[in-house]
Amino acid sequence: MITFEGVTKTFADGTKGVDNLSLTINSGEFFVLIGPSGCGKTTTMKMINRLIDPTEGVIKIDDDRVQDVNINKLRWNIGYVLQQIALFPNMTIAENIAVVPEMMKWKKTEIQSRVDELLNMVGLKPEQFRDRMPNELSGGQQQRIGVARALAWNPNIILMDEPFSALDPISREQLQEDIRNLQKEIKKTIVFVTHDMDEALHLGEKICMMRDGAAVQIGTPEELLTNPKDEFVQQFIGSRALKKGKTSSENKIRSFINKSSSYLRPEIDELDEQLQFTTKPDGSLNQTYFQSVHRTDVQAVSGDYTAKDAYTTLQKLEIPAIPVVEDEMIIGTISYEDLARMAAEGSVASK
Ligand SMILES: Nc1ncnc2c1ncn2[C@@H]1O[C@H](COP(=O)(O)OP(=O)(O)O)[C@@H](O)[C@H]1O
Ligand SMILES: [Mg+2]
Repeated sequence: MITFEGVTKTFADGTKGVDNLSLTINSGEFFVLIGPSGCGKTTTMKMINRLIDPTEGVIKIDDDRVQDVNINKLRWNIGYVLQQIALFPNMTIAENIAVVPEMMKWKKTEIQSRVDELLNMVGLKPEQFRDRMPNELSGGQQQRIGVARALAWNPNIILMDEPFSALDPISREQLQEDIRNLQKEIKKTIVFVTHDMDEALHLGEKICMMRDGAAVQIGTPEELLTNPKDEFVQQFIGSRALKKGKTSSENKIRSFINKSSSYLRPEIDELDEQLQFTTKPDGSLNQTYFQSVHRTDVQAVSGDYTAKDAYTTLQKLEIPAIPVVEDEMIIGTISYEDLARMAAEGSVASK
């Protein structure tokens, strides 16, 4: 657990980077700091591993104040991934990943197997990548190496400062998906900085919305979406806000269903026996008979669901999209993206 108690950082020129910030990050939590440029996200993060020291207040990891912990010991407990990770250009990928384990004097064989394990973990084939040089990797692949390097010696806490913001949208989405799955698997405490609300909503278990060095609202993605605390949060969430408990027809997911979704395949494959699945020549989905809609273990929602209920279902099942069933037919799927689009169009329409 990481706690900030009344933490302020005033820089030498008088700028308040962080202003009386209090928050709690639970162990194993994916915690996102979000806010506009200059609101203090990086400063907050750097105070955790003491790249910056606070002027006032206390930061603790579990029961230890970070000021009191030996700085090497502190940093060895914390991995750090930056926006533009700097790999050493003259070292191979394996050597780049192994920098800290080498410093810690791990055995050669131990290091080798850890490097391969990490490359697999971040989705790169060890035999293909371990001996390459950094300039032989794409931006997305280099960023994956940055993640592998931060995990190398198995620290309990990973700090990630806008790690994906320099990437193209496809690499970015892939890495988001991977880091989300990875975190579920390895259960590290991840503090993740972004200025991108979609990224925050997708990844965060807890989101801290910052402004002028202070926390404006801390909560789950659902809490922020359904109950933004003030106008600032509302603006940042913008079109994504889900109207709460509305039953009007524009709040039903029915008209926002994706009818030619690639998301549907895995669901279909899983439910093979119960489905008759055909596509039209253009690849879109034909009405599909769904025999077992009344079974309770089938993962599907109805077109009558509200955006909020569909959102909650996706969160609960931890899947990116879900089949939508009407009259015992699968008529398409609904995903986070569809819900965001729905919220956007809904708010435009209501203005
Ligand atoms: N070394 C510094 N000296 C003076 N001001 C700084 C320094 N570092 C950051 N700041 C200021 O502190 C505020 C917060 O910065 P930062 O934490 O980097 O914001 P963010 O990461 O949210 O964009 C900004 O106004 C920034 O200009
Ligand atoms: Mg920053």
